[in-house]
Amino acid sequence: MLNKIFDWVDERLDITPLWADIADHEVPEHVNPAHHFSAFVYCFGGLTFFIVVIQVLSGMFLTMYYVPDIINAWNSVYYLQNEVAFGQIVRGMHHWGASLVIVMMFLHTLRVFFQGAYKKPRELNWVVGVLIFFVMLALGLTGYLLPWDMKALFATKVTIQIVEATPILGPYLKTLIAGHPDIVGAQTLTRFFAIHVFFLPAALFGLLAAHFIMIRKQGISGPL
Ligand code: HEM
Repeated sequence: MLNKIFDWVDERLDITPLWADIADHEVPEHVNPAHHFSAFVYCFGGLTFFIVVIQVLSGMFLTMYYVPDIINAWNSVYYLQNEVAFGQIVRGMHHWGASLVIVMMFLHTLRVFFQGAYKKPRELNWVVGVLIFFVMLALGLTGYLLPWDMKALFATKVTIQIVEATPILGPYLKTLIAGHPDIVGAQTLTRFFAIHVFFLPAALFGLLAAHFIMIRKQGISGPL
């Protein structure tokens, strides 16, 4: 049945070369943990991506209930957590995933660093990786405010004070991020929400596409 559908589409759009490029790719022996146990370190990038996918999917479901304004935000999260079927699980996945993805990404970065996999010809992919790193940290930071409880509010006040301490540009950056020169409030919440669900994911998808295209083009590094 699946083959028939594939053949039907292939006859019209010639998708075999595309499919072969994606699916029929030989994985070198030195990255296969079945051959060399220590090769498990090569899994960290893929595991990071797996959690990113979970974050995107769980986040999409969270936005069905979450209300990004200062009157309703906390209550909408409370309702989601305590009343909505599976809400606790979906929120829990997003909450714990947010920490786990940073840990995985860090392990992946350590693998690349200690194997020297950032060296020529992979310097550009390291640079893209560093940008991904900042985008991922910013996702964690902006998401932290959204529950709009005391912890979220005061953590973000601290963040904004740190931004404000930037030499010369401090006050401007603060207003840009908080949406107001001295209040962390309604504008900050909507701004962080938009950044968390639209701006940063868009940047992340573009950067990940570049990351994966470069990996495919250059092949995985090694063996050491
Ligand atoms: C969401 C975050 C990220 C994801 C999903 C991701 C995913 C991947 C995957 C699947 C690979 C293939 C090999 C492997 O898994 O180890 C890879 C390779 C690579 N990554 Fe990442 N990565 C991320 C972040 C980073 C960061 C933060 C850096 C560095 C600052 C980085 C630098 C590299 C480099 C240089 C390679 C090529 C390594 C080689 O050929 O041995 N990546 N990445």
